[in-house]
Amino acid sequence: MATGREPQSYSGAQKALHWLIALMILSMLPIGFYMVDRGAKTNFDAWTNTLYTAHKTFGFVVLMLVALRIVVRRSRGAPAPVATLSPMERFVSEAVHKLLYVLMLLVPLLGWAGVSAYPARGIFFGLSLPPIAPINEKLAETLLQLHGYAAIALAALVALHFAGAMMHGFVKKDGVLRRMMPGA
Ligand code: HEM
Ligand code: HEM
Repeated sequence: MATGREPQSYSGAQKALHWLIALMILSMLPIGFYMVDRGAKTNFDAWTNTLYTAHKTFGFVVLMLVALRIVVRRSRGAPAPVATLSPMERFVSEAVHKLLYVLMLLVPLLGWAGVSAYPARGIFFGLSLPPIAPINEKLAETLLQLHGYAAIALAALVALHFAGAMMHGFVKKDGVLRRMMPGA
């Protein structure tokens, strides 16, 4: 709800975090599916193992960036919705943004919990991550299955978010897309 005390625009840090996280998630989704498919087809050759190690490292970087982003968002807030949006558009965009935040946290946390339970090394630039789930192979399989389902839900939501951004930017031309752009 607009209170009149919101900032006028997203800060440079908010925009930088939005685009960096977007880039990382948009690359990790297709590469994640490819990696799992390749593992099944090649019985985990060296390149598949490299992809898994990179996936865990970059996934953990995303988790930390998202945590930082939430701290910035909660302390600074966001600009009030563009005035021309209908109540329905405000409701839907707010709901999609909230769900994106939830899934941006849930997806890497489920991945981390899954590798903790296996236990596989949750690797972060060569360091082992502390485990966040008890060792239990059945639990690990369930957690990683949920990680995959949550990633599919995230991909669907990103597609919706992207379609909304394009509609505002190129059909309605109402300034919604512009305000997440650098320099705007
Ligand atoms: C936002 C960050 C992340 C995204 C978008 C992401 C996305 C994905 C996707 C799309 C898959 C393929 C799912 C499937 O085909 O079943 C996958 C698999 C996997 N991810 Fe992630 N992931 C992220 C973070 C992490 C983290 C932090 C870890 C662990 C530290 C992790 C560990 C794994 C593992 C072990 C698999 C393979 C699961 C299997 O073999 O069934 N992921 N991830
Ligand atoms: C694919 C290209 C993308 C475009 C063109 C785009 C565009 C935008 C725009 C214009 C806004 C501002 C909306 C407003 O002011 O009401 C926004 C906000 C947001 N975007 Fe994206 N986005 C993209 C990708 C992503 C991805 C991949 C994610 C995360 C998975 C994401 C998460 C968010 C979130 C959570 C917000 C709300 C920000 C806040 O108010 O704190 N975006 N995006």
